[in-house]
Amino acid sequence: MSHILHLDSSARGSASHSRQISGEFVESWLQAHPGDTVTSRDLGHQPIPHVTEEFIGAMYTPAESRTPAQVEVLKLSDEMIGELKAADVYVIGVPMYNFGVPSVFKAYIDAVARAGETWDPATYTGLLENKKLFVVTARGGGGYGPGEAREAYNSQDPTIRNVFAFMGVTDVTFIHVNNTLRGEESAAALAEAREQIKTLTAGA
Ligand SMILES: Cc1cc2nc3c(=O)[nH]c(=O)nc-3n(C[C@H](O)[C@H](O)[C@H](O)COP(=O)(O)O)c2cc1C
Repeated sequence: MSHILHLDSSARGSASHSRQISGEFVESWLQAHPGDTVTSRDLGHQPIPHVTEEFIGAMYTPAESRTPAQVEVLKLSDEMIGELKAADVYVIGVPMYNFGVPSVFKAYIDAVARAGETWDPATYTGLLENKKLFVVTARGGGGYGPGEAREAYNSQDPTIRNVFAFMGVTDVTFIHVNNTLRGEESAAALAEAREQIKTLTAGA
């Protein structure tokens, strides 16, 4: 049995393509694996704070020397790192905002990519082991893939791939919902994503 961590980061609700498809992914996964369990976190609707000076001070203070205030400042980060450690499968919905990830998702990364917790500062290797990551992206346009016209603009996939690899997660599958602002093309992209979900969740 697996435990799933489901994250969404679109600022939108029911109009969000990434939220819709990441939700369908989890539903389809649970149909294929009925005993599995899920923890959800909605970064889009309940954004977490950006890094502060107090957070950085607390993060770089050895755990045994932290003041009660520093322990408090790291509480949410500790909770989210606990969620990453406890899950076997991550399903994340990430829109493209200005060619990259939404700032709420970047704030999440900055809170969880912590030395001694998710990566080892002695070896620069990741500490999250045996995890599978499924990333649902949504983009208004297209042409961001390898060899395509806007590949060089795309900082969304590399950010996700690199940060998770740094934390030890290298089994990564992307489901791209492109052209969400382009009517019929958007419908085709959704249909394609749904086909991909069927194959991925049945074969997992
Ligand atoms: C602030 C903002 C920036 C955006 N930047 C881009 C962009 O750089 N490239 C693109 O293709 N679409 C861009 N879009 C369109 C979104 O990627 C698109 O609407 C996508 O479907 C949003 O994800 P969602 O449907 O899950 O909310 C942007 C939208 C917003 C709100």
